[in-house]
Amino acid sequence: MLIQKPKRWELPDRMATPEELFFSRRQLVTGASALALSLPLAACGSKSAVASKPVAMGGANPTLKLYPAKRDTAFKLDRPITKAQIAETYNNYYEFGTSKDIWQQAQALPIRPWEISVEGLVEKPFKIGADELIFKMPLEERLYRHRCVEAWSMAVPWTGFPMTAFLALAKPLASAKYLMMQTFMMPSVAPGQDQPWYPWPYVEGLTMAEAANELTFLVTGIYGKPLPKQMGAPLRLVVPWKYGFKSVKAIVRFRFQTEQPKTFWEAVGPDEYGFWANVNPKVPHPRWSQETERVLGTDERVPTQIFNGYGPEVASLYTGMNIGNKLYR
Ligand code: MTE
Repeated sequence: MLIQKPKRWELPDRMATPEELFFSRRQLVTGASALALSLPLAACGSKSAVASKPVAMGGANPTLKLYPAKRDTAFKLDRPITKAQIAETYNNYYEFGTSKDIWQQAQALPIRPWEISVEGLVEKPFKIGADELIFKMPLEERLYRHRCVEAWSMAVPWTGFPMTAFLALAKPLASAKYLMMQTFMMPSVAPGQDQPWYPWPYVEGLTMAEAANELTFLVTGIYGKPLPKQMGAPLRLVVPWKYGFKSVKAIVRFRFQTEQPKTFWEAVGPDEYGFWANVNPKVPHPRWSQETERVLGTDERVPTQIFNGYGPEVASLYTGMNIGNKLYR
């Protein structure tokens, strides 16, 4: 008889609390948290404030009818879903300022039309509109934990498609070793990009093996609707076993290449934010511990898990890599 061992993320359904129940019994945190450790070069701030207004989606969006996408029940949570109003109104998007309250400024970003370039070591480079890409891809909803490098965490229902589906479209050559992803450059609407001490545009990267991992997700929506601009519309990356700064927003360029990309935060603070950025409670950030994390919307701190709890799915990506703590910065 074939016995299928459940994967580590396949926690019992009872562990995941429906959003409505969660909302009705939680007290939202409004004060500043102890994580006001957010110094200028910190990649993430604590996400504990609640904004007063709901987030509006504007403009005609032809992909609207694709939402909500069917949930892939293989991806379950060990904690309640974070309230939408918290996740959507306290964001990190340095293009729109270093404050966490940038959701209104981000509405200035024109996301339609939005052209995405697929370049480098591929069978044939091409450009594609974000809407066209989204219609081509198999959208699904996944519940993922998200762990910020500054020791807060949330759990959200992302909508998107597996990176593997995108790779099938892009057709990288065997010589490709890394996938570089780049955010738009538009200082006229994104005033943060006028700050020359940051190495714009925002760049992130993965090895090809990381990109092809089943957890690697290209996100187009959240909470059953298209992604709000402040969260990275029209297309962002989500890699749940890595610190949140790897999840690059508003992607305009995918380039397959042989060299390891120099990432935005690595260029800003190489000792604090490296290329790998795998979650590990045993490797402290130079300025704070990573042992525990504060669960947004609660007063709880819970132990942080290696690879944010996704070790069984991703640890093998790093076997034999003798680069010590660099894997976790
Ligand atoms: N992508 C871009 N282009 N610019 C950014 O400043 N911030 C990163 C990441 N992606 C960032 C980005 C950081 S530090 C985090 S923690 C997450 O986005 C935050 O995502 P959220 O605002 O949707 O929670």
